[in-house]
Amino acid sequence: MKYQILQGGTVVNSTGSARADVLITNGKIEAVGELSHLQIENAEIVDVSGRLVLPGGVDVHTHMDSPMSGTVTSDDFASGTIAAACGGTTTLVDFAMQRPGQKLLETLDEHSEKAAGKAVIDYGFHMCVTDLYENAAREFPEIAQAGITSFKVFMAYRGSLMLNDGDLFDVMRESSKVGGQVCIHAENGDIVDRLADDLMAAGKTGPKSHLLSRPPATEVEAVNRAISIARMADASIYFVHLSTEGSVAAVAEARSKDWAVAGETCTHYLTLGPELYDAPGFEAAKYVLTPPLREEEHRKALWRGLSAGSLSVVSSDHCPFCMEDKFRLGHDDFRKIPNGGPGVEHRMAVVYAEGVRKGRISMEKYVELTSTAPARQFGLGSRKGQVAAGFDADLIVLDPNGRTVITAETQNQNMDYTPYEGWDLPGAIEQVYSRGDLVARDGKYVGKSGRGKFLPRATV
Ligand code: URP
Ligand code: ZN
Ligand code: ZN
Repeated sequence: MKYQILQGGTVVNSTGSARADVLITNGKIEAVGELSHLQIENAEIVDVSGRLVLPGGVDVHTHMDSPMSGTVTSDDFASGTIAAACGGTTTLVDFAMQRPGQKLLETLDEHSEKAAGKAVIDYGFHMCVTDLYENAAREFPEIAQAGITSFKVFMAYRGSLMLNDGDLFDVMRESSKVGGQVCIHAENGDIVDRLADDLMAAGKTGPKSHLLSRPPATEVEAVNRAISIARMADASIYFVHLSTEGSVAAVAEARSKDWAVAGETCTHYLTLGPELYDAPGFEAAKYVLTPPLREEEHRKALWRGLSAGSLSVVSSDHCPFCMEDKFRLGHDDFRKIPNGGPGVEHRMAVVYAEGVRKGRISMEKYVELTSTAPARQFGLGSRKGQVAAGFDADLIVLDPNGRTVITAETQNQNMDYTPYEGWDLPGAIEQVYSRGDLVARDGKYVGKSGRGKFLPRATV
């Protein structure tokens, strides 16, 4: 038996905080409380006094080793999960992206092979449905039985990823039959495409046109339409990467009626603004991620939505493409710049600093948004997201008096930039445990390679 005791820290859960020790036995939390009376021979004692002990981050929106926009995301499951671990995230739910002509079960096999033996933290998958070929839905029961209990659809990117409303309706009602939920990328893709074509025709070929072609209303319309379709399909839905005040209002209204509607936003929508698209030359391509960054009124509404419970989760939407790739594909046509940016490594640090330390959310709310709620929402709530007996010993030791400086040079993400370059933040994630293994210390990976396990998820 392997025993460890994290001694003298303040344990923070979504429900409250208290001075408490944490006893870990063989990678599971066995007890939380005043444990100084325990006499366990060979127990490893770790002094965490003055530190906060939190459940490891759960990031339910990442794209590792994922084919998109004529290229592949720059982090594979090794580099991406190492970066996650170094930043305090101990569980991922990653998108298995169906390629053209590929069957759903084949997609899952391919994505599982990419992750197995490479991931260093535990992971699950969402099934991205980009082509609802004949009888595709017959594979849904097997997919759900394998523990992949969420399906992802795109309402944008016609001709590649987008489903029409009929297929969206079918995915929703078939998902419902297997107890799944549908994750939705909500944008009116056809209107975005028209606006983008107009900008190109006017010679506005640079990255700022990404912002101009995706006004807030393109998201809000799609959110409202998806909610209506979900009502007809009697489906549970979860909106990914919401960025606008109008979307928060739509989700809040649905939830006030007890409809099975939930939503996330992402670190960058809370913290970065559209002035970044005025960067010189091609620099603004760093922020070509979808939806684009929004004005302050939207950022304020997102924080309010999180506090009020209209939005439930903050994820990273880690979808990294190096600038070289972005330039090669989209230097003369912003529509071809691969959409996405990095974030898995810095979500926990940035949301702590910008949320808790700026007084926007409490420490407990931070834990809820970054760990407890995403674990519950995606069928992992019995194992992940709490510092409590019976849970996996996925833990963060955070020094509130420390500091975190973010730079591309020192990050672990396989990326040539970070949107948070030079940010010097209060708080330092000192140690990260995954199932009781110390995997990261002071932002450096110290665990074994390939130790992550696939997590079959419950239906919700
Ligand atoms: O810009 C983004 N978010 N790219 C990744 C694909 C998606 O829409 O989630
Ligand atoms: Zn998306
Ligand atoms: Zn995404």
